[in-house]
Amino acid sequence: MQIRHRRFHYQSLNELRDAAHELELGLEFDEDVSRLRNPVTISGKIVPNSIAIQPMEGHDGTPDGRPSELTFRRYRRFAAGGAGMLWFEATAITPDGRANPQQLMLTKDTLPSFSSLLAETLAIAQEQFGSRHRPFTVLQLTHSGRYSRPQGKPAPIIAFHDPYLDTETHVLPDQLPISDAEIMDLEDRFVEAAELAQAAGFDAVDIKHCHRYLPSELLAAHTRDGQYGGSFENRIRFLVNTVDKIKARLGDGIVVTTRINAYDGHPYPYGWGVTEEEGSRKPCLDEIKRLTEILCERGVPLINITAGNPYHDPHINRPYDLPVKGAELPNEHPLEGVARLIHIARVVQETVPEMVVIGSGYSWLRQFLGNVGAANIRNGWVTMVGVGRGAFAYPDFAKDLLVNGMMDRKKACITCSRCTQFMREDRATGCAVFDREVYGRR
Ligand SMILES: Cc1cc2nc3c(=O)[nH]c(=O)nc-3n(C[C@H](O)[C@H](O)[C@H](O)COP(=O)(O)O)c2cc1C
Repeated sequence: MQIRHRRFHYQSLNELRDAAHELELGLEFDEDVSRLRNPVTISGKIVPNSIAIQPMEGHDGTPDGRPSELTFRRYRRFAAGGAGMLWFEATAITPDGRANPQQLMLTKDTLPSFSSLLAETLAIAQEQFGSRHRPFTVLQLTHSGRYSRPQGKPAPIIAFHDPYLDTETHVLPDQLPISDAEIMDLEDRFVEAAELAQAAGFDAVDIKHCHRYLPSELLAAHTRDGQYGGSFENRIRFLVNTVDKIKARLGDGIVVTTRINAYDGHPYPYGWGVTEEEGSRKPCLDEIKRLTEILCERGVPLINITAGNPYHDPHINRPYDLPVKGAELPNEHPLEGVARLIHIARVVQETVPEMVVIGSGYSWLRQFLGNVGAANIRNGWVTMVGVGRGAFAYPDFAKDLLVNGMMDRKKACITCSRCTQFMREDRATGCAVFDREVYGRR
């Protein structure tokens, strides 16, 4: 069998363009990245440019869920980097929904620390770029569901039994899925957390629906009985109800959004965004299109599109050169993975041109991510370009793109998966390669 995976080895934009052309990926590349400077308006608020930092967990909160000094450091660095939007990392809304004992958690007790984190982040941004530069801030609210590990060992809460995942996620055959009443109660926990996020001063709150954590799993709950399973209307009920409840409680006080899988790559009937044939993993974006239209009608102005399950098929979520320990290289060229993520965001953006759509999965493109992002914005395939791992490695990448029109090749993330590896080893995470003083020597 021909091995398709290749490490990044492109010295120039032309070489990368040729590779994409050869693979017939339909990607475009702009020499001029000035479109990344476009300001964006979200519910009357001005986002100063079209670059977003994606939510990236640092696994460094305190036992009760407050940001630690390392957390503060991460957001200081992101703020000083100049991105127009800072999407704060996965923050649990209940203790049993924490993915690890260091995950941030928003409660009445931890609220003052979140307020300080946000205030300090915004102050640094303004100190660097002037009082008119106010990054738009989103707090990602999560329940980890199947991947909950609040005490450091698996304590899964499932929406349904999934024969592809149950064994690897330590789900016993007789475990009962979360009940409808408990899901309804969770909607209210998300509303309470949204209220706290508003009190902390965030511009927006993300009802996280990606990467197969609990709400994301509900989208794929074809085999579940009751109000939250089976039909499309039932599988999206949790998201729609939670959006409506937050809006009813907080009105225009906070923007409601979601970071959502358009496609998760799990086989039907256990997957979301896949064609409805037994065992099929082939993307089918009809449901994400319908759902986005519904969200748009309900006043959701912003959506962050992602894909995959980082525990199961990490290459779908984050194309890489090197896998985490013990994992195999996928038999696809990472550029194909990047193109998949770009085209799913494009389908959503073209469905709802009036919404601000953020695309994901750009870090593998190294110093050329801005060239692809600018072309995507020019084509109307996306409104904003989101960067995850690349921001751990090179927090100033946005400033370099916006001011100098280019990134420094020597600082760009090399997609070595060590940041993901740290998460898997229950260690604080960041970039072991370019932020070596903090993360390299441990
Ligand atoms: C260490 C690590 C932590 C992450 N934490 C989160 C998170 O808290 N929330 C989330 O939605 N995605 C999270 N992601 C996924 C990223 O936001 C992003 O979607 C992914 O890395 C692909 O984008 P990139 O190619 O720019 O890195 C994480 C990724 C990594 C590597």
